Amino acid sequence: MAIAETTSAEYTRADLRGGPAVRFADVSMGFDEGEILEGVSFSVAERETLVLLGETGTGKTLTLKLAAGLLRPTAGRVEVLGEEVSAMSEHELLAFRRKIGFVFQEGALFDSMTVEENVAYRLREERVPEEEIAPRVAEVLEFVELEHTLQMLPSELSGGMRRRVSIARALVSRPEIVLYDSPTAGLDPVTSQTIITLILRLRDFYGVTSLLATHRLQDGFALANFCFDTKEKKVERVVKGQPTAAITRFLVYRHLEGKNEAGNDAYDNGIYFDGTPDEVMASKDPYIQRFLV
Ligand SMILES: Nc1ncnc2c1ncn2[C@@H]1O[C@H](COP(=O)(O)OP(=O)(O)OP(=O)(O)O)[C@@H](O)[C@H]1O
Ligand SMILES: [Mg+2]
Repeated sequence: MAIAETTSAEYTRADLRGGPAVRFADVSMGFDEGEILEGVSFSVAERETLVLLGETGTGKTLTLKLAAGLLRPTAGRVEVLGEEVSAMSEHELLAFRRKIGFVFQEGALFDSMTVEENVAYRLREERVPEEEIAPRVAEVLEFVELEHTLQMLPSELSGGMRRRVSIARALVSRPEIVLYDSPTAGLDPVTSQTIITLILRLRDFYGVTSLLATHRLQDGFALANFCFDTKEKKVERVVKGQPTAAITRFLVYRHLEGKNEAGNDAYDNGIYFDGTPDEVMASKDPYIQRFLV
């Protein structure tokens, strides 16, 4: 069955849960060199899109890994789908991670495995019966329009195709939340657009909650200003003032070594700005404006 025909019962979403899909409460994270995130708090409602923007090393990947339960914070609470991820045992984390799709920075495919093996990897790890695996792999590869690449190796694919395979791999366990780590980095503008369209389709067709780390403000605006019309099966501009399923918010991260110009510990590393696309556009702040050019 094509993923487009999958019923919402199969592609489960916690429609009735009510609370935020992701909530960080006073989360800190650091290493020997110092704190990267200090007292970070935000929440992402179901089906909302959160764009994490910031220069290199500001903690975008760390945030996504904390949300996925791949890392534990040094302080604070991380709650995802109503559960406290930061307090889970390793065993609980294994079950939890199935609900989260993670598109790793640079794709992170296994080079020696075929596309089929890469996409099926998680299902095989979870001991899903082989007869279920083939249709599920076919379904997600069809969604990313790469059903013909099953037996190819990542090295035989273009950068954009590899990124699409990474998205298929993240989707195979039908996650409610998808975390995209710089999914357009290193791609040309046209290929980047195909990746963003895929993210839009996934969001607007299945209602997944999306967190996207990027250096590119235009990726965030594309998610805010466009939607995927599931009836017409095409991307359309969001009409201002009309209700849309796609609410997009921006968090801008900044790392200042915790000191202001006077050398005081006056700034917490992490969230520098939290706002709507319009607020980003209207901002006169020089750090934010750097992303606008
Ligand atoms: N396991 C680790 N041990 C020590 N330091 C780490 C570790 N993981 C990340 N860091 C440091 O934390 C900081 C933030 O890293 P992170 O990968 O989250 O940045 P980022 O915002 O995703 O950057 P980029 O835009 O380059 O992807 C970096 O300075 C990095 O060196
Ligand atoms: Mg990163």
